[in-house]
Order: sequence, then structure tokens, then C-alpha cells
Amino acid sequence: MASATSAPKGRVDDHISSSFEQEYIDGVNPHWVRLLKLLQMNVRYQRCSGAELFTADGATILDCLSGYCVHNLGHNHPAIIAAIKDELDRMGPAMLQSHVPERAGELATRLCRLAGGELKKAFFCSSGSEGVEAAIKFSRAYTGRTGLLYTQGAFHGLTCGALSLMGDPFWKKGFGPMLSDTAEIPFGDAAALEEKLRTKKFAAFVVEPMQGEGGIRVPSASYVERVRELCTKYGTLLVFDEVQTGFYRTGKFLAAQHFGVSADLVVLAKALSGGLIPSGAVLMTDPIYDAVYGSLKRSLIHTSTYSENGLAMRVGIAVLDALEQENAGSRTEELGEYLRAQLREQLAGFEIVNEVRGAGLFCGIAFQAPRKLALRASYEAFMAIHPAMFGQVLVMRLFRDYGILTQICGNNFTVLKVAPPLIVTRAQIDKCVTAMRGVVELANTPSAFWSEALGLARRAVNV
Ligand SMILES: Cc1ncc(COP(=O)(O)O)c(C=O)c1O
Repeated sequence: MASATSAPKGRVDDHISSSFEQEYIDGVNPHWVRLLKLLQMNVRYQRCSGAELFTADGATILDCLSGYCVHNLGHNHPAIIAAIKDELDRMGPAMLQSHVPERAGELATRLCRLAGGELKKAFFCSSGSEGVEAAIKFSRAYTGRTGLLYTQGAFHGLTCGALSLMGDPFWKKGFGPMLSDTAEIPFGDAAALEEKLRTKKFAAFVVEPMQGEGGIRVPSASYVERVRELCTKYGTLLVFDEVQTGFYRTGKFLAAQHFGVSADLVVLAKALSGGLIPSGAVLMTDPIYDAVYGSLKRSLIHTSTYSENGLAMRVGIAVLDALEQENAGSRTEELGEYLRAQLREQLAGFEIVNEVRGAGLFCGIAFQAPRKLALRASYEAFMAIHPAMFGQVLVMRLFRDYGILTQICGNNFTVLKVAPPLIVTRAQIDKCVTAMRGVVELANTPSAFWSEALGLARRAVNV
């Protein structure tokens, strides 16, 4: 997902580094290329392995974004590559649409077992948005209600149904009308939730158990427990969107497991792909399955061409095996604690840093307006030009000066993500922390950082 900086209008007239880049400009998305160039992040990657990306000009970049939590196993994990090769070599049935797919049942059973609670069935799809769309339909089918509740700052995807549940109007503008009967409530506010649920109009409360693009926000356990109680009390289904937080990203298989709370539906995607074969899954209880598919006539009432395709199922199983072999859960909890402790220590005392937060390797650094007058004036000038600009300059500096790839949150520009692959090493974490301290030190002095940043901001609005 691109940052929320508005892509400037006009011709892409900077240096074109390759023919594929020109073809991309001509045929796909010239403004994306323009944005990457503006941020000085348009490099050519030649090889990606583990937590590292190797560029054509010999640089090594440490990935602290993981493709928005796709690459939990790191890039091109050997076990995933081997599974794909083996599956291709055996020339088995794929996308036949006329058979019982061999591995879908095993993958469904294992996902449901890991997720726990009453989750017993899986619907497979190819993206997070597609999973959210399914959860919307299934919730309506089960409850016979139409209403959908979501939270401020939420990110659920960009297809029309999922878009209707996005907690930032930026994504919706110009694409309406959205689904009717939706309502937005603050994240973490159980009283606001109850006020809506009391109407008994809502089929589902769709929520990330820990918000990602909203700013790596970890709610209190009491809030999540209360959410579960209230949804049960008023007959609204609880849908956890674990598209970013699933597959041990936060240290547990699901982020909701930190709170001991089970949902009625869970949406998974991203890391299920092993970073190579697009895949998603919606886990649900048996009664929900029955309400959707419960007869011969309705056995294909909600499906999709790539659902349960052989390659994706094989990769899904390989992902679960590899996560187990890598000890992903305990490793992530331990490394996440280490990362946050180091960041807190190194960033303590910088007034521009508000908080280091997160769980496992789902980590964010929240920035705030500085109090020092000299810095405050520059900071506010930036915010006036574009609210994402300050964070983007940090991202750019991290990339250019330290070889660290990361991004700010899509719905909260003051939070910088630190979400490396779960196979990251302590030495790589140390490298990342040193870089973070370096850019924060720079931003804390009224010098080069701010003048470069203002230059960037002006170019972004003037081009
Ligand atoms: C929490 C969450 N849900 C859903 C989605 C949509 O997933 P996809 O881009 O695979 O459609 C995203 C994408 O970033 C996400 O972060």
C-alpha cells in the first residue's frame, strides 16, 4: 500500500532507469513511480532473502515493513520455494473447479485449530479485502440484519464492501455510494459500541484486535473482553480482521489470543501467502457456515475462481510448518520485547517521540509535535503542507542514509512502523534501532533534516 502522500500530477520526467520502468509508467501507474522517486526510494531490487533486500547497485536494505506483514517468514523462504516447486513438478489438479481439492481440508483444520474457540470451517480466497467481503455477507446471512459497525482508523481493504468499513474518509472519496447501514465508532470505546449494538440492527462488528494502519494501537484486555460480551449479548457477530496481525506477527498465532478472546469470524490473508502465492481465509463457526451454505443448492453460494487453488493450499500448509519450525511464536515475543526495550532506551529524552508501542514484531514509534519553538515552527509548517510529510521524510532518511525500509501508518501519519520479518536476527534489530536513533537525533535538531524536508514538501505540492 502506498503512503497517503497525494501523488503529484503531471508527466514522469525524472531519469528513467530501465525499460521495464518506462513500460510500468506507460501501462500501469506513473504516479506511483513519481512518488517513489520523490522519496528517493525507487531502487531496483535484484534479490530478496530473509530480512534483506539486495539492490542492483550493491546496497543491502533491511526490511522493517515486511510488505505490510506479508513476509513473516522473510523473503523467499527455502521451505516455501521447495513446496511451490514440488507442487508444480507433480502437475496435479489446480483450479479444476470440479473436484475435492486435496489439501484445503487439512489447511482449514490446522488454521481453525490454531485459531481456537468455536472456529470450525474456512472459506478460502485470495486477498484480505475479499475475506472482509465474505465476512460481511456471512454475517448478514447468519443474523438476518444489515448493519455493520467498524472503528475509526480501521483499515479493512479497498473493495467496495471493505471500503465502506474504512475508518478514514481519504480512501472513500469519489468512490461512493458506500454500503448503507454502516456506522463508525471510536476504537477502544466499549460504551459507544454498546450504544450502537443496543439497536439490534447490526449484523457484525468488524475490528482489528490491534489496529495496524490506525497507528499500531494495542487496546486493553478489558476492552476486548467487553467487546466479546456485548456482541454476544446483542446478537451481533464479532469479526476479527487479523489480516496484518495473524500468523504470529504479534507473538501469538492471532493477536486476539493475547486477550483470550475468540471471534465468530476471523479474516486472514497476507502471511498465509508465504510472500509468494496470494491467499486468504475466513474462519467461521459451524452455525455461520450452515446459515450461508447449508444445503446442496447453496453449496457454491459464495465462492471464487482462485479459492482453494492447489498452489495456495500447498503454500498455506508449508507456511504453518515453517512458522512452527522457526518457533515463530516465542521467538517473536522475545524479539519484540527486545526491540521495544532498545527503542525505548535509545529514543528516551527526544521530545519528538511520544511512545514506542506494539506487541511482538508489530511495533510502532508514535511522534508528536515538538515543544522547542524552533522545531515546532518547522513541524507545523510541514503539517500544513501535508500531514504525512514529516513521517515520509523520516522514512526517506531511514532508507537513504541507513538502508532501512519502513513506512508510516496509512491512517495515522505520525506513527512509524517497525515490523521486520519474524526471522529477523538480534543484530539486525540492533541495526534498525541505531538507524531509528540516528534519524530521530537528526529530526531533533533545527538543521538539515528540516530544510530538506521542507524542500520535499514543496516539490510534492508543486510538481
Ligand atoms: C487489517 C487489514 N485488513 C484488510 C486488508 C486488505 O487486504 P488486501 O490488500 O489483501 O485486500 C489490509 C491491507 O493492508 C489490512 O491491513
